[in-house]
Amino acid sequence: MSSFRAPVSSSKEVFRDDLFKGKVLFCTGGRSGICYRVVETMMSHGVDAAIIGRDAKGLAESAQALEKATGQTCLPASADVRDPKQLEKAVKETVDKFGKIDFVICGAAGNFLAPIQGLSSNAFKTVIDIDLLGTYRTIKATLPYIRESEGSYLHISATLHYRGLPYQAHVSAAKAGVDSLSNVLAVEEGPRGVRSNVIAPGPIGNTEGMSRLTPKGTNPENGVPLGRMGDTGDIANAAVFLFSPAASWITGTVTVVDGGEHHIRESL
Ligand code: HXC
Repeated sequence: MSSFRAPVSSSKEVFRDDLFKGKVLFCTGGRSGICYRVVETMMSHGVDAAIIGRDAKGLAESAQALEKATGQTCLPASADVRDPKQLEKAVKETVDKFGKIDFVICGAAGNFLAPIQGLSSNAFKTVIDIDLLGTYRTIKATLPYIRESEGSYLHISATLHYRGLPYQAHVSAAKAGVDSLSNVLAVEEGPRGVRSNVIAPGPIGNTEGMSRLTPKGTNPENGVPLGRMGDTGDIANAAVFLFSPAASWITGTVTVVDGGEHHIRESL
């Protein structure tokens, strides 16, 4: 198999095992999918983590699995990013447990396929509330701690708003907003040593997002110049780099991790 089509290799072949030793990560949406893998990989490099989501039971199970896989500590803190008070409580639980926060991942997201005509005002608002306002609220709740640690933010966005992708008006508007929010955060907080970056994943296999958004019988890998679907590990590797000191002069960027897919995609 050509190396560019080979399954994703481990960040541990490139970065030190103890890269993030003594650091604390706060991640919304860390229970499953892309963010679970990012948290797992960050923990395998020594970070302790809090994972935040609505499903308390699922969070507890994921936290246990993450601890078992990595030997680090993981706090399950249940909160809906639509509720600022719940988020503030999750932040407090994290700081009470670990004493600080160094890294934040804004990864909580909701999505479904629907044409504009089929979207009620509440449906549009629900996705904006989770994806965009949820990111804003997570920033607000964590910023005092990130200023203190001179830490950094990573936002999980998308590439669908680079073009007009049908049935994705709500999430396109939200993710465009997330990219902008991150840029402003980078500029406002840069002088305090805080960084903010975005990863825009392409089609990632075995995720809820892909199964919700891929019509049956289609082969998304056909539209990827590098010839394979993405793996959650591809996103995790990029996240490790962006949080590492190797990226200390990188802020206000969007890193597209999609095998080149957004350059040629026509529609879903
Ligand atoms: C039209 C829909 C709909 C659909 C829900 N709604 N699904 N409208 N088509 N398929 C409408 C409802 O009718 C309602 O409007 C409003 O949206 C809120 O729906 P609820 O079910 O009451 O909301 P809630 O229970 O809070 O659920 C939120 C959700 C849900 C976003 C709708 O899907 C969810 O919880 N998702 C979380 C998991 C998830 O989506 N993961 C995938 C993320 S992937 P009315 O008017 O009836 O009140 C991802 C990747 C992005 O984000 C980039 C991909 C490339």
